[in-house]
Amino acid sequence: MARAQSLVFVTAMALLGFSVATTQPGQADKKAEEVYKNIKSFKGQKAADIMPAMHAMSQALGTDCAHCHEGQDFANDNLRPKETTREMIELTKELNDKYFNGRPEVTCFTCHHGQGHPDPIASAFPVQPRLRSGSSASADPVLAAFAAATKAPAAATHIKLTGTVDDKGESHDLTTYQSSTGKFYEAEKGKYTIGWDLKDAWVDAGGGKNVVPPPDNEALIRYGRTFWSGVPKLTQAASGTEPVDGKPMKVVRGTLGATAVKLYFDATTGLLARAVYFDRSIVGPMNDIYDYADYKSVGGTMLPMTVVHYESATKKIVRHYTSATVESAADEKVYSPK
Ligand code: HEC
Ligand code: HEC
Repeated sequence: MARAQSLVFVTAMALLGFSVATTQPGQADKKAEEVYKNIKSFKGQKAADIMPAMHAMSQALGTDCAHCHEGQDFANDNLRPKETTREMIELTKELNDKYFNGRPEVTCFTCHHGQGHPDPIASAFPVQPRLRSGSSASADPVLAAFAAATKAPAAATHIKLTGTVDDKGESHDLTTYQSSTGKFYEAEKGKYTIGWDLKDAWVDAGGGKNVVPPPDNEALIRYGRTFWSGVPKLTQAASGTEPVDGKPMKVVRGTLGATAVKLYFDATTGLLARAVYFDRSIVGPMNDIYDYADYKSVGGTMLPMTVVHYESATKKIVRHYTSATVESAADEKVYSPK
């Protein structure tokens, strides 16, 4: 893949705020310094570990790529925060090597809490990956109740949703298709189109459709899916109770592939209110958080009309759907990368 194309790809994924984006296909096994031009701090790390680290640092500081990089030229060292970050990576590594046997216990977030300059005031937002001790019941009834509420009605195969997205201060029109088998298509007008046809996940940020290979496609699927086609199959699932914003929630904790996941269900309605994915990076873990609200019955199935994706405690992408219609025969081609 040409260099120009791969940058389009990197930035398309970054635009969407994906925490698990990505090097370009075929380079995953190479060393960082073999794929990128100006690697000093991460020499010897895998190329595939660089983008998750970039997202973890952005999240920990509550910033975006532009805080440390000039536009698309990620290799230059013109911005001061990039240079400071190299010192910070060393500081963090020294602390972990010296006091924690090299485990990434101290992270950028430990000090920064979602801000460029560390603040002594704690943020309540980060989520603990474990269930509260003492609470561990079977997850089956919680998941079964939600699956029943969101089950696709026999007649409906596609739902069309339209609305707007508030994407870090900008508002764009949104058109989404969801199929009962789990496919989706979403166009944020003037910004991007994404899709998933159960085989290929793809992104088009203006330069044509780019297929996102596994495992990076997981972040895209998370972003695009709603849950009317079924709850993700968690292994080792257990449930307990935890509040979200003061409301009691039934929480299910399990793993999806290699990723720990926590799903919070409203204790009264049984509907999914929050999904938290615990992604890893070489500078420590990060939370990928989705909130689902304003459920509406669409052709007999419950769908969230508001979906919030948090990039950090202070930065979020809010999708509001204002209309939802059952389409019995939508054009299947919209889901495909071809
Ligand atoms: C807090 C600062 C910071 C943020 C935010 C940040 N980066 Fe970086 N980035 C760095 C540093 C430092 C390096 C160099 C790492 C090294 O020396 O090994 C780097 C290197 C890179 C490289 C390799 C460039 C090359 O060819 O050498 C890419 C690509 C990159 N970043 C993309 C991104 C993207 C995309 C984002 C937003 C999702 C981002 N970065 C956010 C600090 C940052
Ligand atoms: C032990 C605490 C600690 C850790 C861990 C830490 N930092 Fe910092 N960082 C600080 C403090 C304190 C400052 C402010 C220094 C100042 O203002 O002179 C700072 C400043 C910075 C700045 C400069 C402020 C700006 O935006 O211009 C950047 C960038 C930064 N840190 C990035 C990181 C990254 C990325 C990591 C993780 C790899 C990290 N820090 C880990 C404590 C920490």
